[in-house]
Amino acid sequence: MPITVPVVPEGVDPAWLPPDAFRALGSRRTLILGSEPLVKTVHSEVAHACTQFGGEVVRGASSAPHDLVLRLAGDEGGSTGEEGFTHERGAGTTTVTASGQRGLLYGLFHVVRLGEDAFRGARPREVHQPATALRMLDHWDNVAVHPVMGQVERGYAGGSLFWQDGRAHGDSERVRAYGRLLAACGVNAVSVNNVNVHDVEAHLLTDRIGEVAQIAQALRPYGIRTHLSVTFAAPVVLGRLPTADPLDEAVREWWAKAVAAVYAAIPDFGGFVVKADSEGQPGPFTYGRTHADGANMLASALAPHDGTVHWRAFVYDHRQDWRDRATDRARAAYDHFAPLDGKFADNAVLQVKHGPMDFQVREPVSPVFGALPRTRVAVEMQVTQEYTGQQKHVCWLGPMWSEVLRFRPEGEQGRSVGELATGGSVAVSNAGDDPFWTGHPLAQANLYTFGRLSWRPDADPLRILDEWIALTFPAVPERLAAGLRTVLRNSWRTYEKYTAPLGVGFMVQPGHHYGPAVDGYEYSPWGTYHFADRDGIGVDRSAATGTGYAGQYSEPWSARYESAASCPDELLLFFHHVPYGHVLKSGKTVVQHIYDTHFEGVEEAEEARRVWAGLADLVEPARHARVAERFEEQVRGAREWRDQVNSYFLRKSGVPDERGRTIY
Ligand code: GCU
Repeated sequence: MPITVPVVPEGVDPAWLPPDAFRALGSRRTLILGSEPLVKTVHSEVAHACTQFGGEVVRGASSAPHDLVLRLAGDEGGSTGEEGFTHERGAGTTTVTASGQRGLLYGLFHVVRLGEDAFRGARPREVHQPATALRMLDHWDNVAVHPVMGQVERGYAGGSLFWQDGRAHGDSERVRAYGRLLAACGVNAVSVNNVNVHDVEAHLLTDRIGEVAQIAQALRPYGIRTHLSVTFAAPVVLGRLPTADPLDEAVREWWAKAVAAVYAAIPDFGGFVVKADSEGQPGPFTYGRTHADGANMLASALAPHDGTVHWRAFVYDHRQDWRDRATDRARAAYDHFAPLDGKFADNAVLQVKHGPMDFQVREPVSPVFGALPRTRVAVEMQVTQEYTGQQKHVCWLGPMWSEVLRFRPEGEQGRSVGELATGGSVAVSNAGDDPFWTGHPLAQANLYTFGRLSWRPDADPLRILDEWIALTFPAVPERLAAGLRTVLRNSWRTYEKYTAPLGVGFMVQPGHHYGPAVDGYEYSPWGTYHFADRDGIGVDRSAATGTGYAGQYSEPWSARYESAASCPDELLLFFHHVPYGHVLKSGKTVVQHIYDTHFEGVEEAEEARRVWAGLADLVEPARHARVAERFEEQVRGAREWRDQVNSYFLRKSGVPDERGRTIY
């Protein structure tokens, strides 16, 4: 069947693949060699571009000169792996060569990104390969609209791309267009339902697998494998067995059969994502078994089919007593999983949130990275902006993810998180059926950046931002590019300034997590406290006098975090309880820092709004208006944060602002 390039439905933004992004490629003469399914995708992309821009595409050998050759060459001339490719230019021809069909697809999008530059001068041979074989987006989508969480849990971009009216979307064109966008930034896997698996969604594994197959079919031409979140209790809730004990023979057989049926429906199925014994989800603890027992049982069912289980490390006590200062949620993932190192099957991947808490604007890197050398670990990030402004605030997370991926848990000579995450790079998607895909049009930059950083974790995020700008706004005038950079580059730090200070986290409205509530979680069972009183603030996580969390790190981090004197300012309140008068490395006291950053954060948000307003003549009206409207809410929200946080600390500490600004 010929593959057609998906048409973005009327009114839907083309994001980083507007037709003009293909102008350079589409006006050339291109030779394509290879006949595998994804080569057909490559062919239809080039042919489609040529019909728009007057170029020509030929298949098979031809003696006429070509501007571009895209060829699948097996391992001839050295393997580039399944997904890599080489790129070179000489004698007026640009050549992309790949050993595997996915590699050719990524090579094509490389040429698209280069635009006219792909056809200029000469270029020596470059080899491009992804750092990790799995670059996945987890969708927290429910099939049925959940009474509290809605259709997409922590979704800020409308309804689900996959599910509508209680079933798989009848029209797969939008899903295909999504797959195309993801392939263009290097994502190769998608999990299509929420990690909190509710009753209806549990059935996707068995009697409703046909609907998952429909989604898989739409994503396949763009090299994307489909994964599913499953409930650990499936043998009980779906199979009517009396137990889901992972060591029970009947349970193991049930899973083996269920998995075989999944592969019969979706031969290239990727595997399962599992949230077990976490926030009320069922898991192996019920049966006195370990997480390794649970993960390995699923791994063994998946192994004959080459599938993988992604077992999440987000396991902690969510019914903690706030009076109990010894229990520390930050410790939980390490305490649960480090002792299990070496016990997981080869096709079980431990999926670890990048920080020890929950996707806060600032957290240390989880000590789980580097602590399980004999386990495949994946890093999990959150593209959806649950705690970072919910796609109402601009908050480009590239610099934060880059810091995480470059962090070296074993010290300067050791490997980075990007290198240690051999099990993959995963993130919670921020996309939905919103016409701009991501609610806030500028939040598209987060989705794009995640994909590109997954491909190359050591890439410079600012270059990725420029790439996104150039693709999204072809022939971008310098004034617009500069304006976008100004608005986005520091937006994460701006957001940090007006929200929870110095790594302390949370201070959000309980439940939905939008907007300030300094004590919102202070007396709750969730384990997220700041312990502010009249004298000071912060959590003592030192080994000497606190919860001992700092001791979960290797050197030099353990020693660095252990003492308030050497702890980096931005994490001070995560690791230490200090008086308000404690002097930071910046020379300011903690309380003055809180006041100053909150005033600055609002000023920066106001300035970004002003810069955006000045770009009105250069941006399509609908996009400009959507962003402008969100800036109103961001500035309102930032002021609310500023005033609540500053007033709270003025009242607690009694210390006036040195500069006598208005605090309520
Ligand atoms: C956060 C989030 C939940 C989500 C959970 C998870 O706690 O608020 O909605 O289910 O993370 O990652 O499993």
